[in-house]
Amino acid sequence: MGVEIGNNCFISVGAWLDHRRGQILIGNNVNITNGAKILSHDATFGRLNKKTSMPKTIITRLDNDVFIGMNAIVLAGVHIHENSIIGAGAVVSKDVPSNCVVVGNPMKIIKKYNMNTEEWEAV
Ligand SMILES: CC(C)(COP(=O)(O)OP(=O)(O)OC[C@H]1O[C@@H](n2cnc3c(N)ncnc32)[C@H](O)[C@@H]1OP(=O)(O)O)[C@@H](O)C(=O)NCCC(=O)NCCS
Repeated sequence: MGVEIGNNCFISVGAWLDHRRGQILIGNNVNITNGAKILSHDATFGRLNKKTSMPKTIITRLDNDVFIGMNAIVLAGVHIHENSIIGAGAVVSKDVPSNCVVVGNPMKIIKKYNMNTEEWEAV
């Protein structure tokens, strides 16, 4: 339980890391900007899954070099892989692969980093 934070991270004082009953794992060089909310619990689980017991610990992961834009919400259990960028105001309800730019609600991938050209390309 709790929050683990790697090296060289910037976490705004206005960001919210809600680790009640869960765990948030943050890698190195991660930037979490003002108003962003990272959740690792969800009280709706018991209402929606009456026959299944609550998972013991929900883990939310932000891998190395992830950027979370202003007022984005990362829902409990999501894994954002390395070097991905979450746009301002996005609601991240699913795992995000590495090297992507994600925006909106519902979230969508709008760009991917091309390792060969070393450019971000629209998808
Ligand atoms: C997501 C982001 C990184 C994309 O930047 P970009 O690659 O330069 O994006 P573009 O300007 O090329 O926009 C591409 C499309 O995505 C849309 N878009 C960009 N950011 C968006 C956002 N946050 N939410 C919804 N749509 C967004 C654009 O309107 C555009 O749509 P279109 O193709 O229909 O015209 C950027 O817009 C963003 O949100 N940055 C975070 C800002 C922030 O929170 N800063 C904190 C202080 S440092």
